[in-house]
Amino acid sequence: MNRRTFLKFAFAGVITMALTLVVGWWQVDGPGKSEQTGGRPVDLSEMEFRLTDHEGEDVGPKTLIGQPTMVFFGFTYCPDVCPTTLSDISGWLDDLGEEAEEMNVVFITVDPERDTVEAMAEYVGYFHPSIRGWTGPQEEIARAAQGFRARYKRVPTEGDDYTMDHTASVFLFNAAGLFTTIIDYHEPREFAVPKIRRALAEETEGVT
Ligand code: NI
Repeated sequence: MNRRTFLKFAFAGVITMALTLVVGWWQVDGPGKSEQTGGRPVDLSEMEFRLTDHEGEDVGPKTLIGQPTMVFFGFTYCPDVCPTTLSDISGWLDDLGEEAEEMNVVFITVDPERDTVEAMAEYVGYFHPSIRGWTGPQEEIARAAQGFRARYKRVPTEGDDYTMDHTASVFLFNAAGLFTTIIDYHEPREFAVPKIRRALAEETEGVT
């Protein structure tokens, strides 16, 4: 490759990168940002949805207010992200021990078609006993996801099969139901556990 050709390639590369950044900004933070997805979850008191937990109890956002809360969206057929995250969450809860006993930890399915109450009960049984599994009608799952600004999408695979793409972040709320922060997928324990401690501490500081 001569110098001229190299410069052409280098220039094209820079332009492509700049375009990617601009498009990324437009979609994530810019005017192209969707109203319903991305961004910060609303507080639990502003959410409206009704689901059923893995023991058949009626639950919703108001069920969670009064204790700090950790929420994660996924589905039981998930090959990788969900089991990894639920194992991570279980490890954090083990680390926190008694400290986290009074905390809501909820796994909401984005695949209610397969994730019945029974399927959720079996699945959460593989992880920390504090973890609750929530499922319900598609519309209610959609309303929940909208409140948390979680995204999910059904993706067809071979035959009639399908998988689900979904937001892999863990959402944290304090005891008053106010959103505090997000724990990212694969976030190391030394960052995740202090974030949970902060959400727990806000409770003892008497946030109402
Ligand atoms: Ni998953």
